[in-house]
Amino acid sequence: MDSFRERITTAVNNQPQPTVTVLSSLLAVEDAIGYIPQEAVAAVANRTGASINDVWAVASFYPNFRFTPPCEHRLEICWGPSCHLSGAMPVIAAAQDALNMDGEGDTPDGRLSLRYNTCLGACAQAPVIAVDHHLMGRQTPDSVRTVISEALP
Ligand code: FES
Repeated sequence: MDSFRERITTAVNNQPQPTVTVLSSLLAVEDAIGYIPQEAVAAVANRTGASINDVWAVASFYPNFRFTPPCEHRLEICWGPSCHLSGAMPVIAAAQDALNMDGEGDTPDGRLSLRYNTCLGACAQAPVIAVDHHLMGRQTPDSVRTVISEALP
């Protein structure tokens, strides 16, 4: 088995919680390799006894799953209530300006994915961003521009 398929199989078959569902399996794959490839849908169907169509239905229901390989870096900006009240929108505007993007998406060179999040779980540090899952609080438009320039030198 090649290492890619092995990583998918390991993620699907080694979930620590007692109840394994289609959703928990998809999340395990996303955690392991950053997206849901076609091979994973089959592995999840195999593991859970669901049909391929049912697995696709669950995967496509949740907008946070992606079906193409992720960019090299991932920038998440929280726009949940605490962050919104603390200045998330100017932070988002600065990030979009720095990346020449109008919203969420991937840079054309595949270096960075910009995503919004409804709560990164660090509301006391609002406004919060996460770079490659590393949380950074008390962001400003200038600080997010610096973060982006460091991620995309
Ligand atoms: S609302 Fe932004 S971290 Fe919770």
